[in-house]
Amino acid sequence: MELIELQPTMKGLKGMIEIPGDKSISHRSVMFGSIAQGVTRVTNFLPGDDCLSTISCFRKLGVVIEENDNELIIYGNGFDGLKEPDEILDVGNSGTTIRLLLGILAGRPFFSSIIGDHSIGKRPMTRVTEPLRSMGAQIDGRNNGEFTPLSIRGGHLNPIHYNMPVASAQVKSALILAGLQAEGETIIIEKAESRDHTERMIRKFGGQVHKNDREITIKGGQRLIASDILVPGDISSAAFFLVAAAIVPNSEIVLKNVGLNPTRTGIIEIMNKMGANLEISQNEADSFEPAGDITIKTSSLRGTVVEGDVIPRLIDEIPIIALLATQAEGTTIIKDASELKVKETNRIDTVVQELTKLGASIEATDDGMIIHGGTTLTGGKVSSHGDHRIGMMLAIASLLSKDIVELENPDAISVSYPNFFNHLNSLKN
Ligand code: S3P
Repeated sequence: MELIELQPTMKGLKGMIEIPGDKSISHRSVMFGSIAQGVTRVTNFLPGDDCLSTISCFRKLGVVIEENDNELIIYGNGFDGLKEPDEILDVGNSGTTIRLLLGILAGRPFFSSIIGDHSIGKRPMTRVTEPLRSMGAQIDGRNNGEFTPLSIRGGHLNPIHYNMPVASAQVKSALILAGLQAEGETIIIEKAESRDHTERMIRKFGGQVHKNDREITIKGGQRLIASDILVPGDISSAAFFLVAAAIVPNSEIVLKNVGLNPTRTGIIEIMNKMGANLEISQNEADSFEPAGDITIKTSSLRGTVVEGDVIPRLIDEIPIIALLATQAEGTTIIKDASELKVKETNRIDTVVQELTKLGASIEATDDGMIIHGGTTLTGGKVSSHGDHRIGMMLAIASLLSKDIVELENPDAISVSYPNFFNHLNSLKN
C-alpha cells in the first residue's frame, strides 16, 4: 500500500485555486443527460473516480458519452433509450451512483446486477431498496437486498407517499427518479432539508417538481429535454482549503468558483460562528446553481456546537470541521450526526482514531464527537482507511504538525479530488 510523507509548512498558505467541479452535480449531470432527450454538454465535470464510475455504468446501459478535455457530451434518448446491460454495473466507491441508479433502474423493464468496492459492500441499501420495492421494483441482494451485490428488475411503478426515516439526498433523489417513471404523483417528505441538486436539475431539464417546505411532489411520465450544464466548484472540496487557511498562521487564499447552494453551505455558517475571517463574492446569479469566490485569512477561532438541521448541509465536511475544532479555543460538540457511521468509512471512528494518533483531544459519542481545542498536533503514521475525505483531512492536519506525517493510502483522494496535492503544494510555495 502506498505511503507518502507530508511535511509541516513553515510559512502561511498564499495564492488562488480554482475549485474542481462538484461531485454531486457531476453525477447528476451524467444521469439526467442520459435520461433526457437530446445532447447534453457538461462543462467543468469532475473527473474523479466516483463520477467516472457513473459514466461507466451509463455506457453499459447503452448511452453514448464522449469525454473531451473541456466537456462531457451525453447523447440521451430518454428513459426508454436505456438498454439491458450485458455486463455487471460496477459503482466502485460511489454511494451516490448506486442509490440514484437504483431509482432509475426501478422503472426500467429489464434486469441489471450491481456491485461496488469493499466499502460499498458495507453500506446500507435498504433505505432505497425497501421504498423502491413498495413502488413495484423487484430487487434482491445480500441480506435480503441490504448489501451489494444487488440485482434489480424494474418495470411498472406505482407512486408512493413516503416519509423518509433518514435525512438523505441520495434516498430522496432515488425516489424522485423512480417517481418520474411512476404512474401518478409521488410525494416524499424529508426529515431535514438535504442538498437539492436533483430538484434543480429536473427544472433545468424542463421538468417540474413541487416543493412545499419538506414535502416534495413529483408527477410521473414527464419528458426531460437535454440541457447544457455548467458545474460549479465543489464546496466539499473547497472546505479542506477553507480550514487550512483558517488554521495555518499567516495564510490568505482565494478559492474561485465555489458552489454556494444554500443546502450545502453549512460549513460557512459554522466557520463564521467559530470566528473565521472569510469574504464571499457571489458570481452572476443567473446560474441554476449559485457560485462565487471566497477569500479566507487566518483568524483565532472558538469552539461551537454543530447539531440539528445544519447536519445534512455539512455532513461531508464533519471530518475537516473536527480538525478545525482541534485548533479552536474551547470545546466543540458535534451531535445528531450518526449518519457518519455509514459513509465511505465509519467517519466517527476513523476521524477519532486518526486525529488521536496526531495528538488531538477528541472522543467519539454515539451520534458525533467532542473535540477539546487548543492542541498542538504531533507527527505520526496515519491512514485514509480508503476514505477520500479522511485522507484530505489528514493531509491538511500535516501542515500544522510538529513532525512529519506519514499518510497511508493517499490514492483514495482521487475519488473526489484528483488534483488535491497539486493544489495544496501550489499554496505552500
Ligand atoms: C450525496 C448525498 C450525501 C453525501 C454524499 C453525496 C449526494 O449522502 O454524503 O457524499 O450526491 O446526493 P446521503 O444522501 O447518504 O446523506
